[in-house]
Amino acid sequence: MKFLRSILILFSLMIFSSGISSAESKILVAYFSHSGSTQSVAEEISNLTGADLFRIVEVDTYPSVYKECTDRASREVAENARPSIRDQVQNFDEYDTIFIGYPIWWYNAPMIIDTFLESYDFSGKTIIPFCTSGGSPIGVSIDKIRLHCPNSKVLDGLTANDRSKIAPWIQSLGF
Ligand SMILES: Cc1cc2nc3c(=O)[nH]c(=O)nc-3n(C[C@H](O)[C@H](O)[C@H](O)COP(=O)(O)O)c2cc1C
Repeated sequence: MKFLRSILILFSLMIFSSGISSAESKILVAYFSHSGSTQSVAEEISNLTGADLFRIVEVDTYPSVYKECTDRASREVAENARPSIRDQVQNFDEYDTIFIGYPIWWYNAPMIIDTFLESYDFSGKTIIPFCTSGGSPIGVSIDKIRLHCPNSKVLDGLTANDRSKIAPWIQSLGF
């Protein structure tokens, strides 16, 4: 009887501690946004999941004039540039799931996302991309992320132009 009670206590402890470890799994929403659309999607994802937020900010500010900005973005693609990022994610290793958000620039993720992906070791982590755009889909940028992070699980992601799709998508991911 005493033995049976010990087994039961042991089992309860195992279940309890596995619950704690999944509650401790940390989520990050890292995003770049030039004119605010991707930022508001990032904030919604953070609210829905309880994730920490990190804004990717360029050192050399992108022009607010649209044509100047598209010209610079186009140059950065042609030069395979790595625009510098202002701050670093604190305790990056603690995160096991990382949402990465960005606007589509020239049918792809902006080159500053390449900088971000090369700044940390994403091995073993789950990456969940999302974007906003003027209509271009997220697909091409997913290929780019998978090339940078061959040892990560990179989900297909969401083109979040229709805000009503965000909450059901987050739910479908199991959050
Ligand atoms: C430099 C630049 C390039 C862009 N290229 C594309 C594109 O190829 N396809 C597209 O659908 N929208 C394109 N857009 C529009 C943005 O993706 C869209 O406005 C996005 O929602 C902006 O997000 P943000 O407010 O977070 O910066 C481009 C915008 C800029 C400034």
